[in-house]
Amino acid sequence: MAKATVMAILAIGLIAGAWVSAKAAEIRRYVVEGSRAAGLSSCVEPTERMRRMHMEFIKHQRIVTVHQGVRDTKYSLAGCIDCHISYDAQHKPRPINQPDQFCGACHRYASVKLDCFDCHASVPNRPGATRSASAGGSTDGGGR
Ligand code: HEC
Ligand code: HEC
Ligand code: HEC
Repeated sequence: MAKATVMAILAIGLIAGAWVSAKAAEIRRYVVEGSRAAGLSSCVEPTERMRRMHMEFIKHQRIVTVHQGVRDTKYSLAGCIDCHISYDAQHKPRPINQPDQFCGACHRYASVKLDCFDCHASVPNRPGATRSASAGGSTDGGGR
């Protein structure tokens, strides 16, 4: 009897603890102020799923695009950048891999190094996205 009660209390404690740490995990957010994402409530998949799985989605997208020529925009790298980019006071996009920007900040925290932006633009390259004539040279300081 007493043992069952203790177990029940322990179980409740565990559940409460998990809830608290889930809440605490929620506080560390990387979505950047001023980005389109900052005004939306969900990523292209439920956010929790994106946190754990985005690398798989992107890699799969790369294979599908490069080898099969399919350009679905849902998981495209260009799409991630478009929605998660933020802009400086001159309306110039801040390279997404900078250590204080979306991909860069979390990867720095997680000690993940990417070579993607050796080839891929770290700013939106669709027409209409503001870009300086000097092609990002000056703001690129501590990028990698
Ligand atoms: C050596 C150069 C190079 C590197 C490094 C590179 N890519 Fe690519 N990637 C390309 C080229 C070229 C294409 C084809 C361009 C196209 O068809 O749009 C491409 C296409 C893609 C696509 C499909 C197009 C899109 O915008 O979704 C994805 C996704 C992608 N790469 C992801 C990555 C990721 C993630 C990394 C880092 C882990 C990476 N790439 C590293 C050259 C590179
Ligand atoms: C149309 C806009 C949009 C696109 C496109 C988009 N995202 Fe998101 N993303 C969001 C929003 C909005 C959130 C925050 C949702 C929330 O608060 O729950 C988010 C959250 C995330 C998170 C979790 C961030 C955190 O602080 O925990 C990751 C990781 C992420 N996105 C990666 C990606 C990747 C990788 C791509 C490209 C494959 C991508 N996103 C494309 C809107 C977008
Ligand atoms: C909330 C944190 C977070 C954000 C935001 C985030 N990532 Fe990641 N990313 C990670 C973690 C953690 C890993 C390593 C996972 C592992 O090692 O299993 C990772 C790994 C990756 C990988 C695989 C690297 C490899 O060498 O296999 C790619 C590609 C990637 N992220 C792309 C992106 C892009 C592009 C963005 C921005 C659009 C982004 N990530 C934003 C946390 C994040």
